Parts: sequence; structure tokens; C-alpha cells
Amino acid sequence: MSGNFLIHDLGPKGDGIHRSDQGPIYIDRALPGDTVKAQVQRGSGGVLRGELLEIVAPSPHRVPAPCPHFETCGGCTLQHADVAFYREWKTGWVRAALRKANVEPERWEAPAFLPEGTRRRVTFAAYQNGKTVTLGYFRRRTHQVTEITTCLVAEPMIMELRNRLGPLLAPLLQPGKTTDAFIQSVGSLCEVVITGPIGEKGTPDLRVFEAAAHMAHTLKLARVSWRGRERDEPEVLLEVAPLYAAFGPLNVALPPLAFLQPTALGEQALVSAVMDALPKQGKFTDLFSGCGTFSGPMLRRGAVDAFEGEVSAVGALDKAKDPQKLKAQQRDLFRKPLQPDELNRYDAIVFDPPRAGAEEQAKALAACKVPRLVAVSCNPTTFARDARLLMDGGYRLESVKVIDQFTWSHHVELVAAFGR
Ligand SMILES: C[S@@+](CC[C@H](N)C(=O)[O-])C[C@H]1O[C@@H](n2cnc3c(N)ncnc32)[C@H](O)[C@@H]1O
Repeated sequence: MSGNFLIHDLGPKGDGIHRSDQGPIYIDRALPGDTVKAQVQRGSGGVLRGELLEIVAPSPHRVPAPCPHFETCGGCTLQHADVAFYREWKTGWVRAALRKANVEPERWEAPAFLPEGTRRRVTFAAYQNGKTVTLGYFRRRTHQVTEITTCLVAEPMIMELRNRLGPLLAPLLQPGKTTDAFIQSVGSLCEVVITGPIGEKGTPDLRVFEAAAHMAHTLKLARVSWRGRERDEPEVLLEVAPLYAAFGPLNVALPPLAFLQPTALGEQALVSAVMDALPKQGKFTDLFSGCGTFSGPMLRRGAVDAFEGEVSAVGALDKAKDPQKLKAQQRDLFRKPLQPDELNRYDAIVFDPPRAGAEEQAKALAACKVPRLVAVSCNPTTFARDARLLMDGGYRLESVKVIDQFTWSHHVELVAAFGR
């Protein structure tokens, strides 16, 4: 069916919602207060989805999107709303996710909104057709690669590199196949990690090594790596210089594709919120530590035991560590969470799980006696579930701070402090 629909609400993924008698209709790129003409169909799972055909009457919150690719690119969700509306939507969705799990902090800290143009980790999709490589992002709701020459969320240095990368990638790629080209900047250096089939047989061959060397030389890259599939460990094709990250007193030589917070300013904001919530001294553990974003600064307050699932991250932390004060251990915290008797050795615990959260670890934390817990989360829904477990175990949720380093997307982070 098609028709005119008044938009009542905005969903957590940024779709406008019209509440009809037959249930909610989700309309991409529509804002509350808009009246839009849309073609509506029942999609997978019976959900009603509308394709926006025309804005009949615009919402008072509607503004022109600043990026020229906004209409086609699947990257950003909400560039077409004014700043006040955007900020309220982001913090509102965190509040709603917590409320749904019956979680209310004693205090909401002032949220931090970080500027665009600072993303230091960007994955482009690359598609080779003849001698041309299309390098960009997927079109909205498709698997078709669209050329992106401007991206307002990425660091300008990354976009300059992207704009020279296409022809240099061409000799490595396989025609008609889509691969990923991940670019990460660390300080003034950059690395590229390619994911997907390359060379004649899908794996590195002489031509690939030559092309990688040419690419690294031309673009002054520190390192070029490759992996066949997303789950594989990247293989270094060429390393010109190691990439070091400074976390407090630690200097960590990062493995290829190492996890870093997506922006340097976001990292600073998260670290300072975590440090504000920790005691001035003590013995700490950092669960889901990655390469030491929080372990490093925490070392200034006392000894730290870091636990992390990725072998390469633990190896990097191990090499950088001060053995008197930092111990890094590989451990799968989903399958083998630290138990209360292990946790009770610490004065405070930081945990920063992936999007899935830390349900099993939270159950064990709920049963421990540690006076202070600090959670960092990139998923308010799984955070709320885990926070509920901690509160049912007797912890008080003292504060939550929303930190937005994923400008214009529906992703958001938070730091939460719990006390006993
Ligand atoms: C959101 S990142 C945070 C990393 C680090 N705290 C930082 O800020 O750089 C989540 C981390 O959890 C690790 N991880 C994922 N699943 C895990 C598991 N089952 N056990 C232990 N660590 C895991 C990932 O490798 C990643 O380093």
C-alpha cells in the first residue's frame, strides 16, 4: 500500500515510526513530525516497512544532511536531524534501554558528544571491475558497493589515503569479488588490512607481495596485512614500521587490526570517565582488556591483572608490560568467567565487553564482594541486562555517562559505576 503517514517516533536504529492500526510502520530516513508519502510492504518477520517516496511536510527537526553521499551511503543513520534532536535521541535510547530492564542510575553524568571527522578505524568495501576498483561503503540496505570520496566521520588523513588507494589495490584483487580494505591510523602512521580473496588463487602470491610493497611505499604505510575471512588472524604481508599505541605508561606494539577505540578523543573521554570512577589506589583487574586502553592508565594507581580473549592482544600487552605491576592473561570470559574467589582479590574491577555484553561474567560479579565495579559498554541493551544482574546481587548503580564517539550512527557508548 502507499499513502501519507505522519511519523510519530524514531526507533533505536534511526527509522521513523508511524503507529498504524496494523502495528508500527518503519520508514527509513523519516523523522518524528514529518508527514511522508511512502510505499509500505510487509518485510521479513511480518514487519511493516515503508520506502520514503516524498516528504509531504517536513518535521521542524529536519535539516539538510551535510554529507553529499548521505542519500546513497549505508554508513550514517541520522544526519538529517538538528543537533539538539540528534543528542536527545541518542541519550533517550540509552535511558529507554535501561528503563526496559528496570535499571535506573542514581545519577546521570553529563553526556559527551565528540566531533565528527575523527574516526581512526574505517573499513571500506572494494569491488574490482576490469581495471577499476570501486572503493566505498555498501549502499543503504544492499550489498552493492558505492564509491565514497567524502566521509565526514572519518579522519581526513584516512580519506586522503582512501582517495589514492583504489588503483594500488587493483593488482591484488580478484575481478568480480568484493573484499574489505580496513584502514587504521595510529598517531601519524597508518595500516591497511585486506579481507577476502586476493591474488590468482585467493591467497598471497608473488604479484600480491609486489603490489603490497608498491602500495606501502607509495602511500607511506607502516604495514599491509591480509586475511581470507573475517574470523581469520591477519597475516602481515609487509611491515615497514611497528605501530605503537601509548596507554598511560605503556607503549604497546599493536598487532594487525588490533582493537582501538574508534576515535582518539573517545578513548580519552572513556579513560577519564573510568579513572574518575576508580579509587586513587589499589589492586585492579581489567576484564576484556584488549591491548590495554584502560590497563595502561590504571597502572598509575596500582597493580593490574588484565584478562582478554584475543591471543594477539595479550601477546602485545605482555611485551609492553611492566612485569611488577601488570599481568596479562588470555582467557575466554564467556566460557570461563572469573569466579567470586578470584574477583575478591581486587579493590576495583573494570569490564568492557563486546556488543554481546558479559552475562556469565556479570553473574559471577554479582556474587563477589569487590567494593567498586566500572562497566564500559557499546550496547545499552546488553549493558542493562548485565547491570540488572549486578543490582540483583546487591550493587548500586551510582552513575551512568553516555559517550557518543559514533557521530550520526545509532551506536553509542557508556561508562557506569557500581558500588556496594
Ligand atoms: C569493546 S573491546 C574493548 C577492549 C579494550 N577494553 C579497549 O577499550 O581497547 C572488547 C574486547 O573483548 C574481547 N573479547 C571478546 N570476546 C571475549 C571473550 N569471550 N573473552 C575474553 N575477551 C573477549 C575482544 O577481543 C576485545 O578486545
